[in-house]
Amino acid sequence: MGVEIAIRGLTKSFGRQVIWRDVTLTLPAGEISVLLGPSGTGKSVLLKTLVGLLRPDSGSITIEGRDVCRLRERDLYEVRKLFGVLFQDGALFGSMNLYDNVAFPLREHTRKSEKEVRSIVMEKMDLVGLIGAEDKLPGELSGGMRKRAGLARALVLDPKIILFDEPDSGLDPVRTAFLNQLIVDLNQRIGATILIVTHDINTARTVPDNIGLLYHRHLAMFGPREMLLSSTEPVVRQFLNAQREGPIGMSEEKDADELAAESGRELPPLPPIPLQMLPSDGVIRTTQREPGRWCRENGVTPPPGSFAAGAALPVHGAAAP
Ligand SMILES: Nc1ncnc2c1ncn2[C@@H]1O[C@H](COP(=O)(O)OP(=O)(O)OP(=O)(O)O)[C@@H](O)[C@H]1O
Ligand SMILES: [Mg+2]
Repeated sequence: MGVEIAIRGLTKSFGRQVIWRDVTLTLPAGEISVLLGPSGTGKSVLLKTLVGLLRPDSGSITIEGRDVCRLRERDLYEVRKLFGVLFQDGALFGSMNLYDNVAFPLREHTRKSEKEVRSIVMEKMDLVGLIGAEDKLPGELSGGMRKRAGLARALVLDPKIILFDEPDSGLDPVRTAFLNQLIVDLNQRIGATILIVTHDINTARTVPDNIGLLYHRHLAMFGPREMLLSSTEPVVRQFLNAQREGPIGMSEEKDADELAAESGRELPPLPPIPLQMLPSDGVIRTTQREPGRWCRENGVTPPPGSFAAGAALPVHGAAAP
């Protein structure tokens, strides 16, 4: 089963550059969360901070009663065993073939025999569709294959927490759909707490239980999927609906002229909230909420047409028809 991650008042800077300030959120145990934000807002920095690769300036990250930010290297090593991480660039060892790359955490962190290692590695390679590529070096693979190999490696220790940094970047749309299904199925099967960083709005709208948005050096919002998909807060609304209208411009913030040109113009309506992706066997995950429940409990009227099969998704800066 997954574990909760409680992040409180987290601030990180590099020299005089503040990346984000006072980030507070709880990733609920066993739930899937997505983290969004414009490029350069510090999403990857946050993931690296969660596993203790980077130290924040202040704040705490509590996992199973321990504060990751205050652990010594030896204790961090223990906490890291809870994690499976897929880094943005795959982070495979270039001189090792895929098999050895995927086997690496098992050989490093467990005392399993090579026979046991083999059976786990082959199971994960099969899961990500890489059977037959065991002997290839990372340099001989396509970007998408490297991603999937990184994913297989992230899963070998049966982690309680899985962090995915843009698992879908560089994947074709069909593989992205399969990958999303794989993540949902994985969560159903092992109940891990999952955090996915993505730029794919379709993934963000349909896969997670919760969504967070980093913007302008702070966490603009974090909460249940329905809360963000029905929100009219300008930044959240613009980002989650992939619209041009709103405070975000090409270089992060729009300037006053751009905003003035927009004022008075009517915003496109919010598109319907789509149904959440189900596990492939159709059995609800233990942490999955019933469609419309958050809206009902919070007295929020969802956009018309919500929770219908095939509820439209936004396309390219326009509201759904
Ligand atoms: N080790 C480091 N030393 C100094 N600055 C860093 C370091 N790592 C990241 N940064 C800076 O922190 C900021 C956030 O970087 P980060 O990689 O987290 O962005 P991101 O939100 O993941 O962007 P993208 O969507 O493009 O992946 C950037 O300005 C980057 O230059
Ligand atoms: Mg990144």
